[in-house]
Amino acid sequence: MNNQTKFAIIGAGAMGEAIIAGLLRQNLTSPENIYASEPRLDRCEELQIKYKIKTSPQNVQVLADADVVLLSVKPQILDKVLKELKGFIPSEAVVISIVAGATIEKISNGLAHQAVVRTMPNTPGQIGKGITVWFASNAVTEKHLAKAHLMLQALGENIQVDEEYYLDMATAVSGTGPMYVYLFMEAFMDSAVHLGFSRHVAEKLVIETIRGSVDFYESQSVHIADLRNKVTSPGGTSAAALYYLEKAGFRTAISRAIWAAYSRSQQLGKGKLDQNPEKSNDKTD
Ligand SMILES: NC(=O)c1ccc[n+]([C@@H]2O[C@H](COP(=O)([O-])OP(=O)(O)OC[C@H]3O[C@@H](n4cnc5c(N)ncnc54)[C@H](OP(=O)(O)O)[C@@H]3O)[C@@H](O)[C@H]2O)c1
Repeated sequence: MNNQTKFAIIGAGAMGEAIIAGLLRQNLTSPENIYASEPRLDRCEELQIKYKIKTSPQNVQVLADADVVLLSVKPQILDKVLKELKGFIPSEAVVISIVAGATIEKISNGLAHQAVVRTMPNTPGQIGKGITVWFASNAVTEKHLAKAHLMLQALGENIQVDEEYYLDMATAVSGTGPMYVYLFMEAFMDSAVHLGFSRHVAEKLVIETIRGSVDFYESQSVHIADLRNKVTSPGGTSAAALYYLEKAGFRTAISRAIWAAYSRSQQLGKGKLDQNPEKSNDKTD
């Protein structure tokens, strides 16, 4: 049965649209309960036709009667949007932000509204297979959470954290995570092509190996190192490959990359947009 919660989506780009699509696909609400704002009229029309939802180029207009307000604009334009929305958020509504690096304090002060949930989703959320980490301000009630949960469900799995600083860690692990996976897959596929497989066979081998390995791991109640150990026979092929990976610093490279992403997320949260990798706050040195 459809929920009657009213959703306002501020910025229906890739993630905003993913949430609209997820809410409707999972029957968490019906189109008349979704009102989305987008600056471009052609995009408004596109969303109206595709999802039968209401749209407007005016951010403030979509807030009327909203129970849940989603902020899904790019970090660079957040200040402008907060100024525009200040004083217009319905007093009983809960605001959900997916804007990377934007703190609860910034959003609450910017909107003069206390009930805020800050989240860090990831790209697979666009097909409802993401993992979203979220933190709620003290003003968020159980009633707010029940409504906010519908939006989180639209993106896939979710995990609540009890301190806001975990959001920067989540940014480095699951938010940035698809990049690590895609880079690894790309190198894996290119190596298979280098051996002599055609591109489409290389892609199939890599995708099914990764999917199957994840499913197999989830089916076993063992530490991941046990599985890696079981496929490493003495003097065998895995042992030969492992020797090179360890020699090349595979684990260290991953650990340092994740730490670099964490430091960068903290910097962005403090408004430091410029970056110089040579002067990065790399605690792994
Ligand atoms: N993509 C991800 O996988 C991912 C993961 C985690 C977090 N996030 C966060 O999600 C947020 C949205 O990312 P996205 O990938 O969905 O970006 P996006 O596709 O660029 O979506 C942002 C949307 O906001 C619209 N917009 C621009 N100015 C606006 C304004 N003044 N008022 C209302 N809407 C406005 C844009 O319209 P125009 O295109 O016409 O400018 C665009 O459709 C970002 O803050 C990002 O940090 C994204």
